Amino acid sequence: MKHPIPASVLASVFAFACASACAHAASPGAAGDVQVLHWWTAGGEAAALQQLESTLRAQGVQWRDVPIAGGGGAQAMTTLRARVLSGDPPTAAQMLGFDIRDWAAQGALQDLTPLARSGGWAQRVPKALQAFDMRDGRWVAAPIDVHSSNWVWANKAVLERSGIARAPADWDAFVSDLDKVRKAGFVPLAAGGQPWQIATMFDGIVLSTGGPAFYRRALIDLEPAALDSPTMRIAFTRLRALRPYVDGDYANRDWNVATGMVINGRAGFQMMGDWALGEFNHAGRVPGKDYLCLRTPGTQGSVTFNSDAFVFFKVKDRAAQERMVEDVMTPEVQARFNRVKGAAPALLGVSSAGFNACGAKAIADLAEADRNATLMGSMSQGYAVAPAIQHAFYDIVARAFDGEISPSEAAVQLAAAARARY
Ligand code: BGC
Repeated sequence: MKHPIPASVLASVFAFACASACAHAASPGAAGDVQVLHWWTAGGEAAALQQLESTLRAQGVQWRDVPIAGGGGAQAMTTLRARVLSGDPPTAAQMLGFDIRDWAAQGALQDLTPLARSGGWAQRVPKALQAFDMRDGRWVAAPIDVHSSNWVWANKAVLERSGIARAPADWDAFVSDLDKVRKAGFVPLAAGGQPWQIATMFDGIVLSTGGPAFYRRALIDLEPAALDSPTMRIAFTRLRALRPYVDGDYANRDWNVATGMVINGRAGFQMMGDWALGEFNHAGRVPGKDYLCLRTPGTQGSVTFNSDAFVFFKVKDRAAQERMVEDVMTPEVQARFNRVKGAAPALLGVSSAGFNACGAKAIADLAEADRNATLMGSMSQGYAVAPAIQHAFYDIVARAFDGEISPSEAAVQLAAAARARY
């Protein structure tokens, strides 16, 4: 459970933060600095952030990096909370979905609406994102990218050596390909046992098993009849059936180490969001030649998104902070950042020129899903349900993957967890 911070505590915290931080504020005319808290510590992630950092540096703004390792961002959120409570908020923080709502509800975030108006954000950011980046008609976050969780990554040479001629088109073909990769002597499925990673696989499995309407009913609307249903039991059965395809060392493996297994030809497949594309990019691999990117078999046409947004804390000297907001929301910066990061820009209409085939696919899929209302928040990445329910789901999904609970028990527990926290 999160512990909301009372408004009175926040008010004194910000007053204190300003008394100390603002005393060292940049002298008039200097561009100041930004302190940016994030969890982009993998090679591809850090390289992407570098694009934003160098833009700000070129404008004379000092970049003070606050990296907090840990995929999915749980550690980063814990550190952020501690820093704000101790009166030391950063200038900006990377944030996802429901966490943005929490912080905005506590009145901790800068109002970005004037900048959003002059930048025309409302016309350029998908409505599904605006639902999180705005509160009560005011902008509270600046989205830099749109990732999604329903992707699979494959090593092309491993597939060829396993006798697989083309990417699997549906779930059964995927499982049969995992078998072929195992028989050829490779690890079929690269994964790490951290619950958020298993939940990432589960997003795609639920979508593939029940389709977009079911995904929405179950993981966004939390309908008990969908959470505890025959379709959900099949989804859990499919999840559990993947466990034997994962190697014995998976327990504490980080997601990017698992991606490395596919990049280096130790493993055939990984089910992971398209931040994995950032790792392929960073390793200089070429899509279609070295690796394949495909939507989780059976999910083409739908996108379970997670958009990285920056939120900005209340500090007195806003010049450098506003510079950063404007840079984040500039099409050229988003293009440069996302060509490296592996995501689609959060601004619709940014050209896919200069993106590789997988990046261009991410952009085209996003636009299509936005048009067809099949753009839905990712449960695993904090865009479907509030954090308390999300973490209960993580736990159930991880135990179901390991066989500690049966598919039926898991479905019952999902429904119970959703009910308990309404
Ligand atoms: C973020 C990505 C990040 C990934 C792994 C996701 O929640 O949205 O930007 O690369 O976690 O760290």
